[in-house]
Amino acid sequence: MGRKLFLETVGCQMNVLDSELVVGSLRRLGYQIVDDPRDADLILFNTCSVRQHAEDKIYSALGTLRRHKQKRPKTIIGVIGCMAQKDQELIRKRAPHVDLICGPGQLARIPELLGEIERTGSPQIAVSLGRAEASRPEVTESFESYDPLREPSMRPNAFQAYVRTQFGCDKFCTYCIVPSVRGPEQCRHPQHILAEVRQLADQGCLEITLVGQTVNSYCFDHGDGRTTRLSDLLNLLHDVPGIRRIKFVTNFPRDMTDDLLDAVADLPKVCRYLHVPAQSGCNEVLKRMKRLYTVEYYRDMLARCRERIPGVAISSDFIVGFCGETEASFQRTCDLVAEAGFKNSFIFKYSPRPGTKADELYPDDVPEEVKRRRNNDLLAIQNRVSLREHRTWIGRTVEVLVEGPSKKFGHASDSSEFPQLTGRTDTDHIAVFDGPLSLIGRFVQLRIVDASAFTLFGEVSEPDPHHRSVLPQENGEESRTEARSARIPLPLV
Ligand code: 5AD
Ligand code: SF4
Repeated sequence: MGRKLFLETVGCQMNVLDSELVVGSLRRLGYQIVDDPRDADLILFNTCSVRQHAEDKIYSALGTLRRHKQKRPKTIIGVIGCMAQKDQELIRKRAPHVDLICGPGQLARIPELLGEIERTGSPQIAVSLGRAEASRPEVTESFESYDPLREPSMRPNAFQAYVRTQFGCDKFCTYCIVPSVRGPEQCRHPQHILAEVRQLADQGCLEITLVGQTVNSYCFDHGDGRTTRLSDLLNLLHDVPGIRRIKFVTNFPRDMTDDLLDAVADLPKVCRYLHVPAQSGCNEVLKRMKRLYTVEYYRDMLARCRERIPGVAISSDFIVGFCGETEASFQRTCDLVAEAGFKNSFIFKYSPRPGTKADELYPDDVPEEVKRRRNNDLLAIQNRVSLREHRTWIGRTVEVLVEGPSKKFGHASDSSEFPQLTGRTDTDHIAVFDGPLSLIGRFVQLRIVDASAFTLFGEVSEPDPHHRSVLPQENGEESRTEARSARIPLPLV
């Protein structure tokens, strides 16, 4: 019927995946994606609540749509995802022109809710039960999931895909809103995950990234005494023909067990890359965060990873300016970053989240300018470490999966026959190099000739010897068209 959808996604990989599934279901209703919200019949924001900043952006976007809604009252505006679960009342108050509010555990109902809005003309709200509102099984059930409706054309590209292993989180780090907005942890049945990966492989997908809030806590209980851990799942998925790389994010330090590390070491398709957020290098802070480990434990865990997986690259997340973080505690975090040799770190200023334990128990007592300074200082240390680590790659030959044109491409001279392309190594290093667009979606060997703190710079040294056996199309031109036309217009804010 030619209805038009504009969807904006903020936040983590989980949200990108959710958006893909929502788009899949709306395509079945005849929606087409448009790049400009003013052209759309349905405008959706898939939202994030992890930091205040992400929420502010959404309220500001909703504010700019108020006039548009007055002019075109038939346009349906929806807020979906984590903010919808957390703040239904507030959204109604601050943005009364919103028609649809749908939490992350209710996304499968969007087609039905849209039908209700059209039928009744009144706003529809669908959220899951709060953690304290019912028993655990009832709350878990209210965060229902749905079988993925995967369309190759809706993935970020045709050859890479996210695959969910579990919903929710049970760790309850005191600063984090995720356990309340995404509900209790529920692991998907390994056979469902396997079936999804097989389907993706049949569609030409080469790389899958397993996603869970704490993916390495994955443990499916079959109910007959048997369990499937993440290491078992990796073994299962490793046998899927066509899949060439398997990654998994995000890991909880305490669940980095030896069986998992051995699976990464032993299974050639599993990437030697681990994202294991430390959050802080100070034991008092870690305790107030309720991270359930000490910095000594974390350092031992890093040593175990490096010992069992030669050449592994590790990245981390840190929060600076958490409640009660003194200069001395911040210094301990700086020491950890200086010594740990992380490939890269994501650094965030603490943002108090109403509804979390930290917000209830501890004052947000680190001034904003101190948070900013600590953020910059820690980033500067990490950048020095990253540059040193990146420079060790110069002169080496690496295999990259070519993901697309680099950011530089598309602005200045994008008519060049050999634009700058970007790809990733199996250690998740980003490498840029000049080459034809036909390389997108292929593996190439690159000789690394230079490095910055963020990027390796390479030259193509040889094409992928396995290429013909895995890609559905042999012809470079065909493959290029497929990869480019499959690009999903999901702008990440
Ligand atoms: N404030 C700042 N950063 C946060 N994170 C989670 N909650 C908060 C918060 N309240 C960060 C953590 C986590 C990443 C996804 O976001 O570092 O690992
Ligand atoms: Fe949040 Fe901690 Fe769960 Fe990660 S492990 S989603 S930081 S509560």
